[in-house]
Formats: sequence, structure tokens, C-alpha cells
Amino acid sequence: MASSAKKGGYPDFHEHLKKLDEAGLLTTIDEPVNKDTQLHPLVRWQFRGGIPEEQRKAFKFTNVTDSLGRTYDMPVVVGALSTNAEMYSIGMGVPVEEIGDKWNEAMANPIDPVTVEDAACQDVVLTGDDLQGDGKGLDGLPVPISTPGYDCAPYLTATNVTTRNPDTGTQNMGTYRAGLKASDRLAVRMVSRPGGAEGHMHWEMYKKRGEKMPCAIVVGCPPSVAYMGPQKLPVGVEEMAVAGGVVGEPIRQVKCKTIDIMVPAESEIVFEGFIDTEYVEPEAPFAESHGHVALEDFNTAMDVTAITMRKNAVFTSIISQLTPSESSVIKRVAYEPLYMSHLQDGLGIKGVKKVYLHENLTNLRRILFIQFERGVPTTEVWRALYGASSLAAAIGKYVVAVNEDIDPSNGDAVFWALAYRANPGLDAQVLKHRVPYGPRDKRSPGGEDSTLLIDATLKSDMPPLALPKKEYMEHAAKLWESLDLPPLQPESPWHGYSLGDWSDEWEEMAKRAAEGNYMENGRRSAQLRRNDVFPNTSIREVPGNPFEDK
Ligand SMILES: Cc1cc2nc3c(=O)[nH]c(=O)nc-3n(C[C@H](O)[C@H](O)[C@H](O)COP(=O)(O)O)c2cc1C
Repeated sequence: MASSAKKGGYPDFHEHLKKLDEAGLLTTIDEPVNKDTQLHPLVRWQFRGGIPEEQRKAFKFTNVTDSLGRTYDMPVVVGALSTNAEMYSIGMGVPVEEIGDKWNEAMANPIDPVTVEDAACQDVVLTGDDLQGDGKGLDGLPVPISTPGYDCAPYLTATNVTTRNPDTGTQNMGTYRAGLKASDRLAVRMVSRPGGAEGHMHWEMYKKRGEKMPCAIVVGCPPSVAYMGPQKLPVGVEEMAVAGGVVGEPIRQVKCKTIDIMVPAESEIVFEGFIDTEYVEPEAPFAESHGHVALEDFNTAMDVTAITMRKNAVFTSIISQLTPSESSVIKRVAYEPLYMSHLQDGLGIKGVKKVYLHENLTNLRRILFIQFERGVPTTEVWRALYGASSLAAAIGKYVVAVNEDIDPSNGDAVFWALAYRANPGLDAQVLKHRVPYGPRDKRSPGGEDSTLLIDATLKSDMPPLALPKKEYMEHAAKLWESLDLPPLQPESPWHGYSLGDWSDEWEEMAKRAAEGNYMENGRRSAQLRRNDVFPNTSIREVPGNPFEDK
């Protein structure tokens, strides 16, 4: 049954699902599916089964069971926030190519939230005994195991972990994993390294004060707010106001029932509680987005004081771990525009065409490409390389500059640029002291990593790419099709093009040859015969050559 509380004009999570369904981006599974062993592995196949990104879907499971034979009324939705870029654009309410501008506009024009009394997310309130014992509290919810075989517990993954800076009163939202420990206890893992989780900075402040940290974990909310969790916004920015900027109206927020934290009124489920600042306890193993299993570390734990939810709540889960995954798409579509605006607007570098964070297996943070138009001065290429590698602590271990004709998503094309456009002795720099990310390298002090920057752009004109010109390849493709040969899937580059070192004269000669007049070229070369030149000498090095005065 739908909630009777009023709602904002912006889409809540239910309306978002409806939009996905209308766009053909939602698959509903009514068969019984075990949340502990089957649910995530099933959705995983669309990332490891050769299905192109555009064809990936969100999954809604309406008949969820578990390994103890229990059944759940609450449906589970996986991959509804950003399994592909189109889904994210639906959530942001703009076409894919405008996502970056939308973020910039919302950050420049935040709209403060409004506080309401009557909120859908508090239709149901569980406290006290409702949270104690098997099948109660957290144990009564269909929280899936993300990586059966490695994870030590079901985990909340689609979280907006909301904490308050006790000095300024500003709230922060971060997407942090939260593992179930008991029906009223969760582990919350906030990255403690520099540039890590803002929630961890708040935790340190409460620890200094000798107080527990109030914390609300929102699972499922209007997508405009959900996207605030994984986005790396500057420290101290009130994310609910940026979400207001995204939807163009104030986000409706409500005060939690047992703590002084505000949450979106249209949230699906809210876990309220206090994070201990004195004790930490072992957490994980949990398979992580850097593509390896995070092993057991000491992390913070939260005592849950209330669970509130909508009457018709849906449980939302993000599919993360080895990339590509929902968590890499959700970051990619938001981070790439951030890097573009950092290079173009922040550093004022001209000629940057695209920033590409490599996703498959590596998880965006390790390998970054910057595409340049031809002719950008080398000093500017290097300013971009340094600038991109230092914007975020964990991002840009390898940064490679390439030209526009190199498609960074094509590994072969990248190797081609490295092979012919970069001289490692001149065009590479190793920088020390990078913060580690992923499993630690035990060889370096503190597990420190380093950075490799490579300028693989063209340094001077080069002869054309050795493939038939575009028009000949296009004609040949038509011929191929008419001959009923196996279907073609063109791979870039699939036709020759000039890289600057080519002349009108050679162009004419090639044209003549293709028209059957090669003998005219032969007559020309006969006229240029010499007896004072050694074989393999370039025609351009010989005095009196046809190019001399051009
Ligand atoms: C699915 C998913 C899970 C994540 N898990 C964690 C986590 O457990 N701990 C963490 O500190 N960051 C995690 N992150 C990354 C943060 O959400 C991201 O760095 C975000 O910018 C943090 O927000 P903050 O800067 O406000 O803390 C995760 C991101 C995604 C998409």
C-alpha cells in the first residue's frame, strides 16, 4: 500500500523504477530466488556474460527467499541506480551528455532542503523489542549477500550513510558498505586514509569529544539524493542541497525518530543508530570494488536504535565488486565530467577533448586517459598529466595522454599509441608517494604506491595510417555484405587517415594508382632518377626533389 504522506515533485525511488520499466530497463523476476546464494550471482552475469552496457538492466525480485528457508514480502531491487549510463541519466533527469553540466549547475546553485513532519519513510517505525532476535530488525529484511563464497555477511550496499559535523552542523552523505552483525548491529566501514570518507572525519571529531556518533543509513531514496552518496563532493558541502539543485526544488527531509539527523522524507528504509567511537571490531571479508576481497580489518560498529520505512518499501542493493559493475558506472558518469571541468575550467588547459577512466577489471581509479586535439603544446599536456594525477588521492596511478584518434576504450589502440607515439626515455615520468589503493604492496614503506605519467600524443607529423582510405573501405564493406560473408563488427581504426606527413603530390599519385594509371607515376619516377644517391634515402633529403620548395 502506498504511503499517505505528501511527496515532493521530484521522482522518488518507486517512480524511478516505473521510468526504468517504461524505458525497457527493468527485469522483474517472480520466481523464488535465494538472497544468500543466487540473487547477486544472477545479476553478476550481465557484467561477465558478454552483454553490452546498453543492454544491461535493473532486476526486481518479488519472491525472495534465504538459506534458512524464510520468505520475504519486501521486493529486492539490484542495479537500478546506474547499471548503465542511460539509467543514471534517467535518475538525474537529463540526457547522458548533459550529466556533467547538471552536476556543475547543481553544485553552483544548491537549494536548501525543507523539513516536513509527515514523511513516508516513517510509515513504519521499529524500535526496542521490534529490533531484538531472529527474524526481527535487520534480520527481518531481505539483505542479500553480494559475493557468496567470500563475504562474511549480508551487506547494505546502496547506502547514503548520513552523519553530522558536530562543529558546523553540516550533514554528509557517503556510500559506505555496512555489514549485518546482529538484528540491531551493523559494521560501517569508512575509509580512514587522507581523502577518504567524510564520515570518518566526523567520527574522529566525535571521538575527540568522547561521544558516540549519531548516524542514519538511508537505503533507497529519490535517485537525485542517492547519487550524492558515491559522488566525491568537496568536504563540508551539504549534499541534500546539491540534490535540491539537481531537481530544481528543495528536497523534503524529516528528522529521524531517535537521533538528530535529517533524512529524505521519501526514503525507502532508514537505519538509525550510534556508531561507537571507543571500540572498533573486526569487519569483512567482503569482496570490494577494487576487484579483490577486502580481508578482515578493524572497523566501526553501529548500534541500531530504530528502523523506519515506507509501507511499500523496496530493498535496494548496488552490485559492486569486480568492475565493470554498477558502482563503477555510477562513479564513471559522475567523475569523468569532474575531471574535464578540473582540467578545462580549474587549470584552464585548452584542447582537452575527453577524460576516460578505465573501468574493466581496473576500477576507474588506476588508469586514466586524457584525449587531446592535435597541436597542444607539450608543456600543457604535462600540466594536464600532473593535474589529473593529483586531483584525488586514489585516482590516476597511470595517466596517459593520447590524441583524439586513439579510442582509450580500445586497449589495442592505446598500445599502438604507446608503441609509436611515446619514447619512454623522453615521454614518461615516475612520481613517488602515492596513497595505496586495493591490496597493499608489502615491498614499499607503508604500502605506498607511485604514479606513472606518459605523454603518448603525436610529437610531430607522421605518415598516414596504413589502411585503405575510408571511401575504399566503405565500398568494400558494402561488397562484403552483398557477398553474404560473416557480419562485420568494425574495430577502430578501420580505415587509413593522414597523421600530417602526407603531400598533395602523394595524394595525386595514390589516386592515379587507384584509377589504374600507375604507369604515369612510373614515368614521373623515371624522370627523377639519380646516380649519386644510396638506396633507402628519403626523396626529401635529395637536393632538387619535388618537395624542396613546398
Ligand atoms: C557501492 C559503493 C560502495 C562503497 N563503499 C565504500 C565504503 O565501504 N567505504 C568508503 O569509505 N567508501 C566507499 N565507497 C566510496 C564512497 O562512496 C565515495 O568515496 C564517496 O565520495 C564518499 O563520500 P564522502 O566523501 O562524502 O565520504 C563506495 C562507493 C560505492 C559506489
